[in-house]
Amino acid sequence: MGTRGRWGTKFGFVLAAAGSAIGLGNLWKFPYIAYDNQGGPFVLIYLVCIALVGIPIMIAEVLVGRRANRNPVGAFHALSPGQPLWRIVGWLGVASGFVILSYYSVVAGWTLEYSIRSITGYFVDMEATAITQSFVEFLGNPIRQVGWHFVFITLTVIVVVGGVSKGIERWTKILVPLLFSILIVLMIYSMRVGEGGKALAFLFNLDFSTITAHSVLEALGHAFFTLSLGMGAMLTYGSYLSKDSDIGKAVLTISILDTLVALVACLIMYPIIFANPELDISESIGIIFTTLPYIFQNMPFGQIVSPLFFCLMAFAALTSTISLLEVVVSYAIDELKWDRSTATILTGSIIFFFGVPSALSNGAVGWLSGLTLLSKGGQKLNWFDSFDYLASNWMLPIGGMMIALFAGWAMSYKDKKEEFETGKVGFAWLNVNLWDVLIKFVAPVAVFLVLLYKLGIING
Ligand code: TRP
Repeated sequence: MGTRGRWGTKFGFVLAAAGSAIGLGNLWKFPYIAYDNQGGPFVLIYLVCIALVGIPIMIAEVLVGRRANRNPVGAFHALSPGQPLWRIVGWLGVASGFVILSYYSVVAGWTLEYSIRSITGYFVDMEATAITQSFVEFLGNPIRQVGWHFVFITLTVIVVVGGVSKGIERWTKILVPLLFSILIVLMIYSMRVGEGGKALAFLFNLDFSTITAHSVLEALGHAFFTLSLGMGAMLTYGSYLSKDSDIGKAVLTISILDTLVALVACLIMYPIIFANPELDISESIGIIFTTLPYIFQNMPFGQIVSPLFFCLMAFAALTSTISLLEVVVSYAIDELKWDRSTATILTGSIIFFFGVPSALSNGAVGWLSGLTLLSKGGQKLNWFDSFDYLASNWMLPIGGMMIALFAGWAMSYKDKKEEFETGKVGFAWLNVNLWDVLIKFVAPVAVFLVLLYKLGIING
């Protein structure tokens, strides 16, 4: 295993994994899906999913990765020789990486456009309606949509070619803490000038009458997406983790950080939305791209904070796309024996082309935007939304359920105990027995029930 990467320090792993988890899922996606799903009850279900399903599965991924010291496909093979079926989980993961990265990079590209716009003072003195208008126009510009998507994939490829500890670890160490600080400042500002009370009431209301089967699946799917679970990304990062790290404690830290960022992002945007009815957010997919420029216009030092924020958001997206590509690349390196540069450049290019239709389907090309692939609860989805839906609501939960079953039932208790306890320093309650129950029963059964429910096989 001499040529495989290693994290430089224990903290390097936590930061890189947190960098993978914290991304557009927290800043862009969570605020808009929580908004579309009426806040409170959805948020509560999401939190329960993180605690009972997400955290146990993240522990499972890191543990399997560290034990096997391999990419997802190879890991299942190595830990269960003679049971080739488990390799499907690895392949499903590589496929999910493809699909997610193809559209994720499109939104990541938007953050680059908005970084440039804020550096050049594009939004200065713009009315709220004009800000929304400019977002819609931007979505309709094919060259910019594909161009930024290309730039973002290229950036990702450059970092991933650099390899694990030099490329990924060095950057996240600086940028994750910086992002955190700026988010806290923005939240305090926004809660004070906007409708902070209304935002809190919306985010934490408990009116369960608004909850549907779809929102439960969406909450579960998002728990996977936001924690980077279900496709072996954390498994791959875990395979670079040294034996003296405490897995349980690292996973808990990562999950708490990730959840905080998502909630803080809502508390930045919602107070402004509730205080300014003239901000049109009917295109909720663009909430962050319409409310934030508006906040920055009015806030003291807004012209400085704005470029800083969008650049950090771009970096947050980059630390996530890196982990998506790394799964695909580590598979090609370990199993197909490609060298790192070839693997990265080749798979990066394919993913770029795969993502072009997503880049063009939000208004840039008429017939593509009108084309609907899948439907969610009767609502037709375009190319971009279909891929998001397919990956986060189906592929990741199925992959996650299988990883849970693998760690729960196919691995020996002795191996699990050993992995769980090497390097253990933290909390006594977070022990292998508690985790074993969650991973054997609670997590897989919860995911399975939600999937059955969603398929219409059971209803309540
Ligand atoms: N978790 C990231 C976010 O919230 C996205 C992401 C990165 C991801 N790697 C992943 C999602 C692996 C699923 C699987 O933005």
